Amino acid sequence: MFDVIKGDLEQLEERLIEAVSSPEDELVTEVGTHLVTSGGKRIRPALCLLAAHGGPAFSLAHTLPLAAALELIHTASLVHDDVIDKADTRRGAPTANAKWDNKIAILSGDYIFARAFRLVAENDYGDHVANRLAQLVGNLSVGEIIQDKQMYKAARDEADYYARIQKKTADFLEICCELGALVGGMDAAAAEKLAEYGHSIGMAFQITDDLLDILETSEQIGKPAGNDIRQGIVTLPVLRALAVSPAREELLAIVTNPAMTDEMVARALSIVRATDGAAFAQAKAEAYLARAKEVLPEALPEEIRDACEQVADFIGQRNF
Ligand code: IPE
Ligand code: IPE
Ligand code: MG
Ligand code: MG
Repeated sequence: MFDVIKGDLEQLEERLIEAVSSPEDELVTEVGTHLVTSGGKRIRPALCLLAAHGGPAFSLAHTLPLAAALELIHTASLVHDDVIDKADTRRGAPTANAKWDNKIAILSGDYIFARAFRLVAENDYGDHVANRLAQLVGNLSVGEIIQDKQMYKAARDEADYYARIQKKTADFLEICCELGALVGGMDAAAAEKLAEYGHSIGMAFQITDDLLDILETSEQIGKPAGNDIRQGIVTLPVLRALAVSPAREELLAIVTNPAMTDEMVARALSIVRATDGAAFAQAKAEAYLARAKEVLPEALPEEIRDACEQVADFIGQRNF
């Protein structure tokens, strides 16, 4: 999928390790290195690099620090998210909160945010990039806060779900595409179209993430499956099941119960799986992906357009 940027992504890995190494403290370096070497799909930096390649003034040296900063912001937000979600695995490895503790995880997350902003400060991307990144981190927090307020509430409004996943994920992928395009020298109109592409694949990406939580095993996704239900987070397949399942009252009682047991989580999963909830969510994701392909700017070089379409196809089919 990422043939065009394969070499770039190899260099990105080196940049990430460099960025999380602290001359002042061994533990900070150890935690940061554990986090950046445990894998991850690297979809955010990949989108930034792909978009930048699509512009007339692409420079790898100029784009790489921004791509690394985007992945570091993602990493830091996941470290904090795993504390919030009490998750013990991520990318098939122990989370920072599990391997060390919540205190170390929170502080390491803060440190990684700081390193991301240092990379941006060192590279003179201008006010717009800095402002968009500030907005991004703000939105991630607001998305998590909205989600926290909706926990165990089973808010039945689909619009609330979309507002939340936009803030958590779609805004992020949108900004990766937009900033990559601008740094690559694309004009504002084309960058805006790529931003819209990023938004649409971002909506689809979070819907498929929520689907995997319902359909796959923890081994397959490298993080605890069924955890959304356990944490009282009602996602699209569950919303659908709450509307159409013959067992919807039982499902409602489980997903609104903060003291739910593992057996109750398993029962809720089987109620959801017995409905068309997954197919319903998959169809929504496909609609966003179709829209994403439609809005790609005309001026995009052929190989970049192909890669962007392949990213959309990957999101529709992914099982990790
Ligand atoms: C996980 O993101 C959090 C979501 C917003 C769905 P990714 O699925 O991109 O996580 P990694 O980086 O590949 O582990
Ligand atoms: C994490 O959201 C995305 C952030 C905004 C940090 P989730 O809680 O849905 O992601 P996973 O399932 O832990 O990867
Ligand atoms: Mg989580
Ligand atoms: Mg979460």
